[in-house]
Amino acid sequence: MRLPVDFLAVCQLSMHKLKKQVEKCSRCPLADGRTNVVFGDGNENADVLIIGEAPGKNEDEQGLPFVGRAGQYLNELLSLAGLKREDVYIANVVKCRPPSNRDPKAEEIEQCSNYLREQTAKINPKIIVTLGNFATKFILKTEQGITKLHGQPVQLGKFTALPVYHPAATMYDVKKKEALESDFAKIKTLI
Ligand code: URA
Repeated sequence: MRLPVDFLAVCQLSMHKLKKQVEKCSRCPLADGRTNVVFGDGNENADVLIIGEAPGKNEDEQGLPFVGRAGQYLNELLSLAGLKREDVYIANVVKCRPPSNRDPKAEEIEQCSNYLREQTAKINPKIIVTLGNFATKFILKTEQGITKLHGQPVQLGKFTALPVYHPAATMYDVKKKEALESDFAKIKTLI
């Protein structure tokens, strides 16, 4: 279905407005240490939303998600699903880099949570790929770990969630890397 240009302009404007709002955020202490807010990036009309954990050093410097080593690998993973970066939208659970890349704390996730919820509602994807435990817990509201859940699609109302390992967690683990690659190839069957 083709959407009228005016309607698309309104959607884009409101994502733009949300981005401007997030760029001013000081709801949690992560704001003090950031160089840039990493709001998210990609196709706002994507069928596939990819959710990571938190920005790292390169992302903090550039203000864009997955631009470091894990990002290069994510590009390769997308190609296994027949996708390019410009086909998908990529966001993180928290928008500012935790110091020394530590795990985000529960209260930081809580303070940031409405931003990801808003992004998800605006993009309205068919498929949400959750990378690793933090994104998976956020979307599936589960305490089960990614080792149990990866590769099994879950229907959540109108969205299909696909939990997978976080690319950074598979760099030195061949078994997890194989699992991640085979899970990414499944995206094709879900679109
Ligand atoms: N890891 C993430 O979870 N997100 C990024 O943006 C980069 C690395």
